[in-house]
Amino acid sequence: MVDKLSSIKASFEADVQLVTNLEQWEVLRVKYLGRKSQLSDAMSLLKDLSGDQRRDFGKHANEVRTFLEVVLEDTRIALEAKGTHANRIDVTRPGTKKQTGHLHPLTRVEDEIKQIFLAMNFSVVEGPEIETEHYNFDALNVPANHPAREMWDTFWIKGEQGKQKGKTGPTEALRYLLRTHTSPMQIRYMEKNTPPFQIIVPGRVFRYEATDASHEINFYQMEGLMVGPHISLANFKYVIEEFFKKFFNDPAMQFRFRPSYFPFVEPGVEVDIKRKGDSKWLEVMGAGMVHRNVLKAVGYNPEEVQGFAFGMGTDRLAMLKYKIPDIRLLYSGDLRFIQQFKK
Ligand code: DAH
Repeated sequence: MVDKLSSIKASFEADVQLVTNLEQWEVLRVKYLGRKSQLSDAMSLLKDLSGDQRRDFGKHANEVRTFLEVVLEDTRIALEAKGTHANRIDVTRPGTKKQTGHLHPLTRVEDEIKQIFLAMNFSVVEGPEIETEHYNFDALNVPANHPAREMWDTFWIKGEQGKQKGKTGPTEALRYLLRTHTSPMQIRYMEKNTPPFQIIVPGRVFRYEATDASHEINFYQMEGLMVGPHISLANFKYVIEEFFKKFFNDPAMQFRFRPSYFPFVEPGVEVDIKRKGDSKWLEVMGAGMVHRNVLKAVGYNPEEVQGFAFGMGTDRLAMLKYKIPDIRLLYSGDLRFIQQFKK
């Protein structure tokens, strides 16, 4: 009986050498461990043996069984590993392209705008998105209760309105809000710097409005400010025409400067453009000569220095340049849209 087990083991050891793939391996497994295998035949004889013999034989048979199992398992693993290399990699196939990220269209447009102004010796500065009522309105010549405040639907920030810790003074002007435009940075910059200078201020702004194809509750603006002795609207006209011609790559485009009202400028204008192929005028920015009250609010003498200021929507410029029909696409996170702006 024990000889029988030895011969099963010996023939298995010979057979296993010949196995070269998983189909053959399965045949081998059934032959040696299946219900009709020699080993299970031998086991079925156990019940006819007497006590001692049964124990010896049983022990031996189990050892052989474990041996077969272990060797079979090792063989399977080796065959599978070999299969991976032999069957799964086809070195002649083209590789999968690595996905790389790229700049968001708005970031790209912001960069393009910056480059043009940097070349005209403007500096780029940024300001806080959470502002006080003072910088967003009062210092820009928009006092509380003035109807001009209606121009900006504002997100007011709850909580402490009024005095900041340790400070005294008017409480109203210290209420917090999400800036409705980038203009407050005009004040912050003028408070700390002496003319002449010229800056642009890119940034995110917020409006408490219903959204549609051309309105979002948050969007981006680009503010501009140039202050110095003898700065005039003629300087503004030159700088801004230069900018738009470069931005839209259209040296022959037409401009229209329409009188308009913004509390922080006098006179105020709105700029319209008409590019090659445009059938109608497109409004692209608000601007004007910095109001005397604003210059005074930051301690400048309006008799000595003047300045022009402008503000434009970065999203709107992106939409015009790249023919984007809905501002909400810019914030959708939809890769089918975003990936069209891969350079
Ligand atoms: N801040 C204005 C807005 O958000 C845009 C603007 C108009 C900015 C005239 C200016 C300006 O600097 O002079 O609607």
